[in-house]
Amino acid sequence: MENRDTKLTEKILILKKRRNAVILAHNYQLGEIQDIADFVGDSLGLSQNAARTDAEVIVFCGVHFMAETASILCPDKIVLLPDIHAGCPMADMVTAERLRERKGELPSATVVCYINSSAEVKAESDVCCTSANAVKVIESLEAKEILFVPDQYLGHYISTRTDKKMILWPGFCPTHLRIQPEHLTRLRQEYPQAKVVVHPECRPEVIAAADEVLSTGGLCRYANKSEVKEIIVGTEIGIIHRLKKENPAKRFIPASEQAICPRMKLITLEKILWSLEEMAPEVRVPEEIRLKAKACVDKMLEVV
Ligand code: 13P
Ligand code: SF4
Repeated sequence: MENRDTKLTEKILILKKRRNAVILAHNYQLGEIQDIADFVGDSLGLSQNAARTDAEVIVFCGVHFMAETASILCPDKIVLLPDIHAGCPMADMVTAERLRERKGELPSATVVCYINSSAEVKAESDVCCTSANAVKVIESLEAKEILFVPDQYLGHYISTRTDKKMILWPGFCPTHLRIQPEHLTRLRQEYPQAKVVVHPECRPEVIAAADEVLSTGGLCRYANKSEVKEIIVGTEIGIIHRLKKENPAKRFIPASEQAICPRMKLITLEKILWSLEEMAPEVRVPEEIRLKAKACVDKMLEVV
């Protein structure tokens, strides 16, 4: 298995050079993919990296909205998503059409979309945010009333950190909802020295039981900088590969072994190689939508 992965990796790296490609991977990707990526990070770091790369091709190892964001920021580049079915179910919980209807009912609300949303939804929104900068972005707005789409739990978490009136869309992440407060209670008994760090997509009861609420990038920085030796990880378990690699002397305990995002795991080394050979599947946002969506993403990047 290891030998096969080594051969695949060698082929990918040769082809990557020939195509002048860069490989960007989200923190939830399989370990072997994180290991060959040029950059591994959270949604914010990935979009910043996509915006500044001078490679001609971006191989996006993540989910569809992330590849779309790269295409929104880099229209002259070829953005490849090695499995076109790698979509985020939460992002699919809001459509541009339903958002337009809701905006009609709330004419004075400013629309903030989580980056986990389609390009069409971004094009209908005033500004987007990631889990790393959501509170900062919302606090930067003059508006008093915010329609937040699609994650009700991130939206609820923000509402505890701002005085603005937050109107929440009923979307959610099925993976983060698998983490229950009972898991944290049990693990705290087993590991009394450990700190509990959870993602803001978790349900409010889980957030209330945590020591820190951080984006995936925030969690990596926390693990690297803090003196804490044991961390109970309340997010998708793919991130534990990076945490262990960067902090071999520390212990990382998954809050739930069930917190796996099946769509993230659709990307494999085989599919990356095939994608670079075929230069497909390509993700490209139509220009009319792209320009509107770019205004929404740029506004966020100005605040960060
Ligand atoms: P981050 O931006 O924190 O990496 O989160 C992305 C995501 O999809 C979480 O489920
Ligand atoms: Fe979407 Fe949740 Fe998977 Fe993140 S973990 S990509 S929010 S389904």
